[in-house]
Amino acid sequence: MLDISAYPAAHKVSLAAVPSDADYQRLYRQSIDDPHTFWSEQAQAALNWSRPWKQINAFDSATGHTLWFMGAQLNVSHNCIDRHLDLRGEHTAIIWESDDPEESLRISYRQLHRYVCRLANALKARGIGKGDRVCIYLPMVPEALYAMLACSRIGAVHTVVFNESSAEALRDRLLDADCHTLITADESVAAGKHHPLKLQADQALLECPAVKTVLVVERTGGRIDWVAGRDYWFHEVLRLAPEDCPAEPMNAEDPLFILYTSGSTGKPKGVVHSTGGYLLQTAMTFKTVFDYHEDEVFWCTADIGWITGQSYIVYGPLANGATTLIYEGIPDYPNAERYWQIVDRHQVNILYTAPTILRSLMREGPRFLQESARTSLRILGSVGEPIDPEAWEWYFNAVGLQRCPIIDTWWQTETGAIMLSPSVSSQQLKPGCAMQPFYGVQPVLLDDDGEEIHGPGAGALVIKGSWPSQLRALHGDTEGMTTRYFQPHPGYYFTGDGARRDADGDWWLTGRIDDVITLSSQRLGAAEIESALLLHPNIAEAAVVGYPDPDKGQGIYAFVTPMNGVSADEDLHQELLTLVSTQIGRFARPAWLQFAPALPKTRSGKIMRRLLRKIASNDLGSLGDISTLADPEVVQALIEARLNT
Ligand code: WTA
Repeated sequence: MLDISAYPAAHKVSLAAVPSDADYQRLYRQSIDDPHTFWSEQAQAALNWSRPWKQINAFDSATGHTLWFMGAQLNVSHNCIDRHLDLRGEHTAIIWESDDPEESLRISYRQLHRYVCRLANALKARGIGKGDRVCIYLPMVPEALYAMLACSRIGAVHTVVFNESSAEALRDRLLDADCHTLITADESVAAGKHHPLKLQADQALLECPAVKTVLVVERTGGRIDWVAGRDYWFHEVLRLAPEDCPAEPMNAEDPLFILYTSGSTGKPKGVVHSTGGYLLQTAMTFKTVFDYHEDEVFWCTADIGWITGQSYIVYGPLANGATTLIYEGIPDYPNAERYWQIVDRHQVNILYTAPTILRSLMREGPRFLQESARTSLRILGSVGEPIDPEAWEWYFNAVGLQRCPIIDTWWQTETGAIMLSPSVSSQQLKPGCAMQPFYGVQPVLLDDDGEEIHGPGAGALVIKGSWPSQLRALHGDTEGMTTRYFQPHPGYYFTGDGARRDADGDWWLTGRIDDVITLSSQRLGAAEIESALLLHPNIAEAAVVGYPDPDKGQGIYAFVTPMNGVSADEDLHQELLTLVSTQIGRFARPAWLQFAPALPKTRSGKIMRRLLRKIASNDLGSLGDISTLADPEVVQALIEARLNT
């Protein structure tokens, strides 16, 4: 466990602007003890409903099936656009920062309304309506947001596919979701280079005869093939469509979107989210967890192809009338200063990013922070994996100049919105700690026998009861949601994550449960060992997995990437083992430590531990689905090195 008493007092920042601890405790208690009153008040305050609900929630804990705001109606696009027009029609809804540092664009709520209505009408004119699935395969351009909002305006269900997904991955998703419409672009742009998006789409579509309409955003004007009668320019279609498009009243339980989860934990699954509950929890968490104030600029660096982008680039911010920044490019183009230039140029107040990005920028060295002031920053968020103390320190000290609290938010594609975070209370921050549950969320720790652990302890993180933005189904798999999430521990939602609750009752995430290594009956979180290894100044990245050991049950295998130019020698090896010994104990020392030039990652930047586990276990027969792997050569190099050990 991280000993936070070792951190200087400066790190214990109190969050003055969010509810006081007493307020949080009172509201949290109400959300659990009297959910009817709590959610009625919150839902009325946060959203516009065109028809009231008859009942707040019905939940079957055996199957996981849940209904929220039964009988109620609302429209997501109305809540994210129309209702802001009177008050802030001329305010900026979207700031678009191009890959090219010289180019950016601001779109007001009024303009957004116009574009979304026209596109919605264009979709309707092509026969698309309530319940129809529309696939969005776009880079980070404003049109991607118009497309999502246009779908929600007419009740169509969008499925956004990450624009770096292969043609095969796109095809699989188009087929699985049974889409008849695709919205894509001629090319995408990253680090000054053009990538043939339409070409990929064309390849995917060869096997998707059901897709009858393709709208193409002209991003670069690059040469593309064209199928007459199927392909239409996005801007042409928009130009010709009428501007008046009433928002379709939708049932709270109608599906809003399907999102396929990243493949790092197996075959991608189409997670289905609802209209009312999902929008409510994303809107509420955006406002509360990030303490959003009117006119602030919020920048979530995720891609809209992932849940973080859906919930905190699009729905959470726009439901609150916020200004949301989207960036087309990568963190280190033209150099590692780019993020901080964007922060200064657009006066970003709240930055929400991932530890993997922080580590990569940190690795480039302090000189890239020197040219920017970053004084507009007020809150720094983190998501996607446990944030190791070194990245936390750098984020807090170097990036935020010790002024901005670090808000480490834990949640999942399946939870739809933030579940654990520090900001809802005014408690002190603990580096690397996700702290406390959001209103209505009841996290529970289970031991190996599936019994609830009370008080401090470590175990499997499960959730008791239902929350509004809970997944409603896995698309096309009637039993899937129950089997995967509600059967492992009957009566609870199974997160697949391990966690620890400390003596203050605060929550620490220790990594996916399958990353928890049980060695000689000692329970060890892979993330904990990784954090220790990462404390070494010459180490850029580390991933630790378990492998079967006949004596100890499991052994520890570490894959370690040294900084550029560092020699991976015996001395470094010993220093790392010593570091683990001193940080955690000799028992936690990896039995195997392999220096790796790079680690295998999904295109969303998650380390593919499943592959590392296979390599560590010398189980190299079949590597399973590696279609989401960003760079397959990395795996080959690791296998070769492993075979030579
Ligand atoms: C991990 C991303 C520790 C966790 C929103 C979870 C985290 C998985 C954190 C979901 C965090 C996300 N601390 N671990 N703050 N945030 N995770 O579906 O293992 O892409 O189960 O959703 O990421 O990833 P997903």
